[in-house]
Amino acid sequence: MSKSQPKTIYLKDYSAPDYFIEKTELEFDLFEADTLVRSKLTIARNTAKPAAPLVLNGQNVELVSVAINGEVLSASDYTVDDVSLTISNLPDTFIFECVTKIQPQDNTSLEGLYKSRTMFCTQCEAEGFRKITYYLDRPDVMSVFTTKVIADKQKFPVLLSNGNEVGAGELDGGRHWVEWNDPFKKPAYLFALVAGDLINVDSHFTTQSGREILLRIFIEPKDKNKCDYAMQALKNAMRWDEDVYGREYDLDIFMIVAVDDFNMGAMENKGLNIFNTSCVLASPETTTDAGYQRVEGVVAHEYFHNWSGNRVTCRDWFQLSLKEGFTVFRDEEFSADMGSPTVKRVEDVSMLRSMQFAEDAGPMAHPVQPSSFIEISNFYTLTVYEKGAEVVRMIRTLIGAEQFRKGSDLYFERHDGQAVTIEDFVAAMADASGRDFSLFMNWYKQAGTPKLSAKGDYNAANKTFSLTLSQSCPPTPESQTKQPFHIPVAVALLGKEGALKLSLQGDVQASISADQQEAVLELTSSSQTFVFENVDEPPVPSLLRGFSAPVKLAYNYSREELGRIITLETDGFCRWDASQQYALLVIADVMAALVNEPAPAVDESLIEAYRTVLTNDALDPAMIALMLSLPSEDYIGDQQAIVDVDTIHHARNRVVRKIALSLHAEFLACYNKIHQELSAAPYSPDATSIAKRSLKNKALAYLVETGKPEAIELCKAQFEQSDNMTDTMAALTALVHSPKAAIADLKAACLAQAYGKWKEESLAVNQWFAVQATSPVPGALAVVESLMQHEAFDIRNPNKLRAVIGGFAMRNSINFHDRSGSGYAFLADQIIKLDSQNPQVASRLLTPLTRWKKYDEKRQQLMRDALQRILDKPGLSPDVYEVVTKSMV
Ligand code: PHE
Ligand code: ZN
Repeated sequence: MSKSQPKTIYLKDYSAPDYFIEKTELEFDLFEADTLVRSKLTIARNTAKPAAPLVLNGQNVELVSVAINGEVLSASDYTVDDVSLTISNLPDTFIFECVTKIQPQDNTSLEGLYKSRTMFCTQCEAEGFRKITYYLDRPDVMSVFTTKVIADKQKFPVLLSNGNEVGAGELDGGRHWVEWNDPFKKPAYLFALVAGDLINVDSHFTTQSGREILLRIFIEPKDKNKCDYAMQALKNAMRWDEDVYGREYDLDIFMIVAVDDFNMGAMENKGLNIFNTSCVLASPETTTDAGYQRVEGVVAHEYFHNWSGNRVTCRDWFQLSLKEGFTVFRDEEFSADMGSPTVKRVEDVSMLRSMQFAEDAGPMAHPVQPSSFIEISNFYTLTVYEKGAEVVRMIRTLIGAEQFRKGSDLYFERHDGQAVTIEDFVAAMADASGRDFSLFMNWYKQAGTPKLSAKGDYNAANKTFSLTLSQSCPPTPESQTKQPFHIPVAVALLGKEGALKLSLQGDVQASISADQQEAVLELTSSSQTFVFENVDEPPVPSLLRGFSAPVKLAYNYSREELGRIITLETDGFCRWDASQQYALLVIADVMAALVNEPAPAVDESLIEAYRTVLTNDALDPAMIALMLSLPSEDYIGDQQAIVDVDTIHHARNRVVRKIALSLHAEFLACYNKIHQELSAAPYSPDATSIAKRSLKNKALAYLVETGKPEAIELCKAQFEQSDNMTDTMAALTALVHSPKAAIADLKAACLAQAYGKWKEESLAVNQWFAVQATSPVPGALAVVESLMQHEAFDIRNPNKLRAVIGGFAMRNSINFHDRSGSGYAFLADQIIKLDSQNPQVASRLLTPLTRWKKYDEKRQQLMRDALQRILDKPGLSPDVYEVVTKSMV
């Protein structure tokens, strides 16, 4: 048995499977020590591949026996290595049977069959099924599954798999069995099994055609009161998918199981979604507003996969964004419809720009449709998910909502039951709309964030405004040179009183909205000029409305022009973005001045702009809160060639403090007013209350920033009196993250009090960990090290790792990037330890070290040393190996 070296797989090498599996019959005999898996596969040769041997994937499984058409094979009839089982000279159709032995209780990778606390569960995407039994573990092999689960009845009263329950019975020795059948063909990555001592909360949904669906959420008994919100979100999602996409649910039962130990957020297994508890459980005392919104979004996301992913699935893993980009787009729109569309859009764009743009500029940059990979788990990325969603959004922008719906109907109808490609998706959109998407495909094929430069020129005599748009894209690992992208640029022209009526000169590729206030200009070459006519006054162009394309926009706005956008623009994204650009200019000034003086002045005009926003009663409070949030340190860093960690931190803090002091009275009034309004009713995670809390807590953060004793008192009072996690965490965060040395005892007391209250609530403890790990106050590393010794810390639980190690390395720049390199060394130590335990989580946590090129020479060296130390670990997983080697080039 040789150990195979990490190998690169290429999209261009795709070849259809050699065999198809028509029927899959599984039997699991679950025990605390060895679990036996009996598999019976009805296989047919792909007649296009007459001579090919049968090569089944299998990893970390012990082969007990194998038979063809009922005849047990002897060891000389097949070969086994550490990743496969090969049998030659097979007939065109046959029955393959095998028995494998596995130890789920020792499986710490949380991939395949494993144990989370007391329950058995599975995670098969992308290539986990091969850790259960030998199989053609690829998404273009789709099969009908029947699964019998056998286990001790007392310990595991609930036995689940995909589809419908078709039988159950008792066995000797206190064991019992349940059999499930899923009538829909599916790839192995959508298989699921759960065995545990669980309770269920039930509800029902009547579909548009009148079918009654049983909705059932399984949880541990202690979490009984925490699934109402997810249940309602599920029903909303089911209705929304019918209304907006015409998609109806297809089985008679839809199940969700909550598990504590999970590598990702959740998984869309057919009819049996498995969720990280953090994405399904919610209660006012343990879940923040953001947590509620995440539950709603993830429940919808997984549900939407039933069509975009399961009924129509991916041909191969290079097509991952086919299901993920489209499904993220769907869940974003759903959440927008459930709450405030503008706020949702701003939050999504803000995340994309600070996180995905960094990925696209780093060593792991890859196209939305990657052309090669070593380990597919490394490609569940912001690029595949979030940028993939932006690309789908651009398709809708280009063809309009109506044609887009026709395109999606055509896609589902044409490919139902198939495993297809991103090209198939785009072809359906092209066929439905009659538009040509050939140039547009570059969004899928090329990595990197395009830079969109714009220049405006007003001609008073002709009353024309010429807008010249140019694009370029920096090199990325897969390609040094770039073809132009097809970029939809949504534009408004703002006059002194507001948006001007638009009319374009000549025959250009563009469309103008019915109210004539917005044009979508299509940039399809490196540079184009669009001329607006009948423009009576010099306008301020408001560009990329709604963030119409995932690009970096460069336009030389003056502060005055940004001010006009902030006050007059009706597009919420542009309005918010103008406030961000304004703040960036002000912060940049402070950063430049910090070179010569320790306490430079802050441009007062920003304060006045903020004051106007803060006191504008017509604005949604959530929008006010967003507009009063300075760009994150990450986003500021992204604007620099070399990230100046310390200067960014100090300059940004200086501006924060200035705003806090100057607008103290306004913030206090705002806080008191909203606090009173909200106190009238019990906590509710509805959009209006969430918006109010977000502004109230933004005001609180600025108040605490002043360091005034009254502000600290106010914060302490909120911490003590709050009836909900949002207010509790906002107060706790403001205190814990405050640099004020005088309140050290208060911080400690509040943290102790919080832990006392949350001890038994694992999800609340995670937030308690995170608030400490992300504190910008000096000394965070020592805190993090002590948290890892805490009784509530569990190194096997990914949520805990993400809260403590992830919080420190990814959301605490100033401490992680400490000049000494202690943060880097710490992270390397953790990766080396985690690599053998859980390669997927190790590989994800490694990300911050891969960005070394963005830092100064000294830090570069320290980061590279840390990477080298990881690379030197013998037996490194392919996951970590791929990320480290690609980032050291
Ligand atoms: N397919 C899941 C989702 O996006 C994510 C996931 C991937 C979960 C791999 C587990 C493992 O909905
Ligand atoms: Zn998904």
